[in-house]
Amino acid sequence: MKLLNNCFPYHELEGIEHLKTNDKELVQRSIEAAKKAYAPYSKFKVGAALRLENTIIVEGSNQENLSFPEGLCAERVVIHAAAHRFGQVAGDTLAIAAMVNNQLYPTPVSPCGGCRQVMAEYIQRHQKPLRLILCGSEKVLIIENALYLLPLSFNSQLPD
Ligand code: THU
Repeated sequence: MKLLNNCFPYHELEGIEHLKTNDKELVQRSIEAAKKAYAPYSKFKVGAALRLENTIIVEGSNQENLSFPEGLCAERVVIHAAAHRFGQVAGDTLAIAAMVNNQLYPTPVSPCGGCRQVMAEYIQRHQKPLRLILCGSEKVLIIENALYLLPLSFNSQLPD
């Protein structure tokens, strides 16, 4: 029996102002997207902005439903929308931010398990890493590949 270890490096910044111009712009777009969320139940408005390889930015926000499980996270909204609109173009960087009471949430929003699975397949489909910027007003995390967030992800071939 072998004991293995899986950890990953990430950057931690003390605020948006420490980001490079390109990343700052993407984060601003995720904040704008958060304002368009439909989150009457949780009041937690999440925005996601995905910059594609061709520099186009696609936005999404969480969309809730009174039948709670039918709502969708901002990350999945944006990834599915980008796949539909620009199917062959890989994503480069995804910024995520949340607003509560019209204020940027202090801590970075970390994607849920379902979104990690969707990101993993998106990455495998395009064979390109997807950089993440998880944005809070007091802390920002940069992760070089979203795949790091789902080690040993389900990616096996289904039988014919
Ligand atoms: N949510 C997202 O949109 N993204 C995340 O990464 C975490 C959670 C949404 C789902 C739900 O509408 C609300 O935030 C509260 O969980």
